Amino acid sequence: MCGIVGFTGDRDAQEIVLDCLRRLEYRGYDSAGIAMISKDALTLRKSVGEIAVLESQLEKMPGRTGIAHTRWATHGKPTTENAHPFVDCKGEYALVHNGILTNYMQLKEQLVKKGHKFTSETDSEVLVHLLEEAPGQDLKSKVLSMLRQTEGSYAIAVVQKGHDEIIAARNESPLVVGVGHDENFVASDVTALLKHTNEIIYLLDKEAVRITPRGVELFDLNGKAFEREPKKISWNLEDAERSGYPHFMLKEIFEQPRAIHESLLGRLDGQEDDALLKEQFTSIKILGCGTSYHAGLVGKYIIEELTKIPTTTQISSEYRYSPVTESKPLVVCITQSGETADTLAAAREARRRGCKTIAITNVLGSAITREADYVVYTRAGPEIGVAATKTFVTQLIALYLLALRLGAIRNTLSSERRRDIISGMRALPRIVQSVLNDASKIEALAKKYKCAQSMFFIGRHLNYPTSLEGALKTKEISYIHGEGYPAGELKHGPLALLSKDTPVVAICIADHTYEKMLGNIREVTARESPVLAVGTEGNQDLSKYAEEVILVPEVDPLFSPVPIIVALQLLAYYLAIERGCPIDKPRNIAKTVTVE
Ligand code: AGP
Repeated sequence: MCGIVGFTGDRDAQEIVLDCLRRLEYRGYDSAGIAMISKDALTLRKSVGEIAVLESQLEKMPGRTGIAHTRWATHGKPTTENAHPFVDCKGEYALVHNGILTNYMQLKEQLVKKGHKFTSETDSEVLVHLLEEAPGQDLKSKVLSMLRQTEGSYAIAVVQKGHDEIIAARNESPLVVGVGHDENFVASDVTALLKHTNEIIYLLDKEAVRITPRGVELFDLNGKAFEREPKKISWNLEDAERSGYPHFMLKEIFEQPRAIHESLLGRLDGQEDDALLKEQFTSIKILGCGTSYHAGLVGKYIIEELTKIPTTTQISSEYRYSPVTESKPLVVCITQSGETADTLAAAREARRRGCKTIAITNVLGSAITREADYVVYTRAGPEIGVAATKTFVTQLIALYLLALRLGAIRNTLSSERRRDIISGMRALPRIVQSVLNDASKIEALAKKYKCAQSMFFIGRHLNYPTSLEGALKTKEISYIHGEGYPAGELKHGPLALLSKDTPVVAICIADHTYEKMLGNIREVTARESPVLAVGTEGNQDLSKYAEEVILVPEVDPLFSPVPIIVALQLLAYYLAIERGCPIDKPRNIAKTVTVE
C-alpha cells in the first residue's frame, strides 16, 4: 500500500502536493518523492524515510503541476533509487504508482533488450519506460497504450515536461479526483484532499482521468469519455485520516478483503523463486510471538495437512531453550513488523544451528529480511493499530501459499485438491467481506457481554489457535481477561473457573469437530455459563445449544480460521468500544517490541 497525489492549478504546486501527501503517510512511510513540472523542466526529488525527511532536503521547486508518492515497499528495498516518482530515460515523463504489476518481469526484459536503463528494483519503473515506447500524439493516448500492456493492480499519476496536465488511472488500487476552482487533484484517498476541496469523483477499476487547471475529463481505458458528478464529502479532517473510521483498528479490519487480494496477487501460479523449498529438510519449525505465533500454530495444521511434513510451532523467546536436534528443520519466522527482538534472536539462533530460514513479514527491508535466507511478504500495507488484524490474516495467506508450493514440490496434493484450494483462496476476499457486512450484529452482541470480567474462547483443531487469537484480541483491546483453550481441555481444570458470569465463545463449525464441540458446549452450559457460538451459515441447530450465535460463510475447513477470526476481531473491537477503551493504543503495550 502506497499513497499517491497529484495537483495542477494556478498556484505553486510544491507546498500543496506535500501537504496532501502528509495526510497519506498512514499508507506507507519508508520513502517518499515528488516531481514538479515547470514551463521547461521536470524536477525530481526523492529520499528514504518519512515525508518529513524529504521535506527537510527540499529547495523551492518551481511549477504549478506536481505529483508525489509515499511508499510502502513491496518490490525492492526502501532506498532512494526505489522511491517514486520514476522518470524515463530521456527525463520527459514522471510517474507514481500504487499497486503490484504481475507481468513486470517480462516487460522489463523486453525493455532492457530495447536499451532502456533501469535505475530501481521495482515493478513500477517498467511503466515509465513503456510510456517512452508507447505510440500516440499526446500524453493521454500514450498512457492508455502503456496500460493496455500491464497486468496487476495500479493507481497511477503521470506528468510530462512542459505540460500542465496529469493523467491518472486505476485498477484494483484506490484513486479519487478532487475538483477545485481553477485547480484539480488526484489522490489515493479523500483524506489527502479535504483541506483543499470536498468535491470528489470516485474512479472505478479500469477508469482514467485527465486533469488540467480548468478541467476534468473522465474516460475508460479505450479512451471513451464518460461523465460522473462529483460527490460532496462531509468528513472533517480528523475523520479523514482514518478514511472516516473512528479507529485504525476498525479501518484495518475492514481492509482485510483488499489485503488478502493483494497478498494473493500473482502468487497462485507458483512462479516465485523457491529453490530453498526444494531442499531436503524433513521437518519444519515455525517461530513467532503473540499474533504471529498464533498464525504459526494455524500454519502447523495447514502445512501438515497439505504436505505431510512434520511441523512444530514455538514461541520465539522459548526457542533457544529447546535442544538442538540432529535433523535441521526448515525454520519459518513470522513477524509482521520484522523488528521483534525475540523473533530476530530466534532467527539468528536457527542459523547458528545450521538451519535454513524463511521470514514471513509485512515490512520490506525490516531487520528480519536481513536475517533470513528467503522472505515472503504479506503485502497487508501499514498497520497502525496496536492490535494485529489484517497482518494476521495475510500471514495465514502466506502460510497457505507456502504449504501449497511445498505440496506441489513434494507431490502430496492431488491436482483436484490443489484446484479446490486455489479456488477456496480466491474466494476469501468475498467471504471476509460477507462477515464484515454483518458487523452490526456482532456490535449488538458486544453490548450483551460488555460487563464480563473474564471470557473463555474454545475451539478444536485449526480453530484452537483461532480461539487463542480471539482471546488475545479481547484482552489487549477490551481489557477483559480472555482465555483461549482447546475445547477438549476445559474438563481437565478450567471448568472450575466457569460461572454464569463467564461467557464462553465456542467455535463450532460444520466439520469433523462439530459433534465434539457440541459436547463441550453442553459441559459449559451445565455450569450456567452463557455460550456465544460461532458457527457456519445454514446451521439452524446451534441456537438450541448456545445463548447467542454468530454465523459465518461456510468454507473448506482449512480456511475456516479466516472468516472466524474476522468475526472475533469485530467482537473484541465492539467490546472495547462498549467499555470505553482507547483501542488503537492499549495501555502497557507497544506495536513493536524491540527488547527481549
Ligand atoms: C497482537 O495484536 C500484538 N500486537 C502482538 O501480539 C504482536 O503480534 C507481537 O508483538 C508480534 O509482533 P510481530 O508480528 O511484529 O513480530
